[in-house]
Amino acid sequence: MKERVHSTQLKQFIGKTAVAAGWVQDIRLMGGLKFLVVKDREGFFQITLPKKAVSAEIFAVPDKLTKESVVRVEGEVKAAVQAAGGYEIIPARLEVVSLAGAPTPLDTSGKIESGLDARLDYRFLDLRNHKSIALFKLRAKMLKYVIDYFEQQGFIGINTPKLTSAGVESGAELFEVNYFGRKACLAQSPQIYKQMMVCAGFEKVYEIGAVYRAEKSQTTRHLTEFTGIDFEMGFIDSFHDPMDVIEGMFRHVIAELNKNCAKELALFNRKPVVPKKIPRLSLDEAKKLLAAQGKKIPDGEDLDPEGERLIAKIVKEKFGEEFVFLTHYPWGKRPFYHMRPVDDPKVTLSFDLVWNGIEVSTGAQREHRYEVLKAQAKEKGLDLDAMKDYANLFKYGAPPHGGAGLGLDRFVECLLELDNIREGILLPRDPIRLTP
Ligand code: 4AD
Ligand code: MG
Repeated sequence: MKERVHSTQLKQFIGKTAVAAGWVQDIRLMGGLKFLVVKDREGFFQITLPKKAVSAEIFAVPDKLTKESVVRVEGEVKAAVQAAGGYEIIPARLEVVSLAGAPTPLDTSGKIESGLDARLDYRFLDLRNHKSIALFKLRAKMLKYVIDYFEQQGFIGINTPKLTSAGVESGAELFEVNYFGRKACLAQSPQIYKQMMVCAGFEKVYEIGAVYRAEKSQTTRHLTEFTGIDFEMGFIDSFHDPMDVIEGMFRHVIAELNKNCAKELALFNRKPVVPKKIPRLSLDEAKKLLAAQGKKIPDGEDLDPEGERLIAKIVKEKFGEEFVFLTHYPWGKRPFYHMRPVDDPKVTLSFDLVWNGIEVSTGAQREHRYEVLKAQAKEKGLDLDAMKDYANLFKYGAPPHGGAGLGLDRFVECLLELDNIREGILLPRDPIRLTP
């Protein structure tokens, strides 16, 4: 059997025989001439059936065919057909591999719009188009460039449990699981484990893995299951070190995407700007800039989504950057394990990274001194020693360390300026949706 080629490879077969296959996009019956427009992963091709040039059996195939059926063709390749945007094949063999039911629940050509819910119900049909495939190619490349960057920087990749007894973050966001009659939780961050591996002597670690959040918010930027990009590094001088890592990561990933995926990015009209120097503004500085534009944020509060959008706009005008680090979040808003500056216990050595107005990352220097950490936990009404596995980390040699977490799905949403985070994940999970 001849090897199947993609639509984009047919050029090399003009005047010769090739085998191609894909999903029927269009069927045109014009008396003595019939056409099938077929889509494969890379593009389109056309099967042309002139009554005089093909067998009666083959000529009859399009009559019973439905759109989205899978066909396989072998025949001579002719020059490009403009209308279909691909090459033309005159079939010597034409096989209906899988006949699709009609009508399909969704229009896959993109000509008739369906609501997001209907699209997600039939996600495999919704994705059967070149723009969606481009999106997920971009997503896979982003992940590759993220991993390349961490590897180049000497981080060790780790995989930590997602079935846990409890986390160190607030308990409200945990999904409970029945673990052989015991109560377990799905990890809502690898926080404990990445700190653990720094203390284990790995010094610098990163993890790409599933993160679960029982957040009941049905928004365009929240999922209950997402892919987290987490890292943690030991022997840091300050919380600027993890910010430097994030900055370097975005610089690398965006530069590589612009270099290698310009065609895919163009489908989304995006040419993301490689950050030069991401401004680092304390929350107080940011609030002053916002106040000057009439947006008041009370003391002890962090920015609301509107504030994040406005600060992004101000930063873009002032510094020409799409990104901004907001630092020194109030102690009241951050978990007990964030370090506080000696001279100002009202704030934490923490940061958020905002990209075009949306938070994509949160990080901090961690408190690594057992006694200080214990006191901080107490201030938040927690008993550090009750979190035995976490408490132990700080008793047997813990270097100063810090890190951050970043959501890949948010990253995709911001990179491509998608309206909804659900567009950039294959099968989204939110408080309502658990299928397919
Ligand atoms: O800001 P978060 O909650 O921070 C942490 O998990 C810390 N343990 C990180 C650290 O190292 N200090 O989550 C980190 C990032 C967010 O900035 C956001 O990009 C993403 O994870 N994220 C979500 N993405 C989609 N849906 C959700 N419900 C998300 N919650 C957080
Ligand atoms: Mg956050």
